[in-house]
Amino acid sequence: QETAPKYCIGFSQCTGNDDWRRNMLTEMKRELFYHPEMQLLYKDAESDSKRQVQQIRELLAQKMDILLVSPNEATPLAPVIAEVYKKGIPVIILDRKAATDSFTAYIGGDNYNIGKLAAEYIAGQLGGKGRIIEVTGLRGSSPTIERHQGFHDALVRYPGLHLIATLEGSWVADKTQAAAAQHDSALRQADVVFAQNDVMAYGMYRYCRAKGLTRTRFIGVDASPYPDAGIDLVSRRILSASLLYPSGGKEAISMAADILAGKKVPRSTLLQTVLIDSSNVKLMRLQIDKIQAQHQEIEKQQSLLQEQRSLYQDQQHLLRIVATT
Ligand code: FRU
Repeated sequence: QETAPKYCIGFSQCTGNDDWRRNMLTEMKRELFYHPEMQLLYKDAESDSKRQVQQIRELLAQKMDILLVSPNEATPLAPVIAEVYKKGIPVIILDRKAATDSFTAYIGGDNYNIGKLAAEYIAGQLGGKGRIIEVTGLRGSSPTIERHQGFHDALVRYPGLHLIATLEGSWVADKTQAAAAQHDSALRQADVVFAQNDVMAYGMYRYCRAKGLTRTRFIGVDASPYPDAGIDLVSRRILSASLLYPSGGKEAISMAADILAGKKVPRSTLLQTVLIDSSNVKLMRLQIDKIQAQHQEIEKQQSLLQEQRSLYQDQQHLLRIVATT
């Protein structure tokens, strides 16, 4: 017998239009396979905080049982998240934080440590001496602040490393390139560009190549498993390194199931990072390929099972007809 979904999970995503978030949704859907009691109501705010507030209101009107939310910016999203929580609906905040204490649980990567590890890696690569450009995400989103803080706290320990410019790339390539156009002389001097995600790191790489600047090294964050995304860019040596930023998609769905089943969950879950460069990228790829193959096998088995089920139901139906004639 099929289990009809009993619970509705509202998922308010700040943007759906990048590899990292595509991966998050894929992980969620995979985990949902094991939870037929839950269905996902998905809204994509396309990087617009006002729109995200509106969409959370729509989810409220649709009577969700739990809210998952990755807030575009911390402050504008805080009141509506608190409003949902105060109505007694559990709230899991994912990846980007909100400026409120009114939520059930937070799941996300260790952004401070990501910034810190990036600075330490650069120090090692440059022998403690060189010029750096930092490219940040959207100013109002929490990973921007935390990655920046970790990066700076570690950099101050290396007097030979100089941060010569900080550009705001807002997480996307076109804004990064527009900001780069304003920093021509810094670009010509930079040994390393640390961008707070791979999309911006790759945007900077293409910009510098087009300008004939070939000396600079690029480091990003995310390490998503798609063509032209982090892991692929590190294997092709376009990026020197990328820091893995786990999506938390799987963890969010299993935590939602636990909350709906009345279990207690931790208030904060920090997912660990790892730095991927040419020394371990092959291993990472192998592992990713293996996991993907396993998932494909599971999906194949599921659809075979589904076929068998409907065949069985058809036969039962036929038998009933035969019995009544
Ligand atoms: C995707 C993204 C990632 C980044 C994260 C920060 O939308 O920009 O690249 O690591 O959001 O919240």
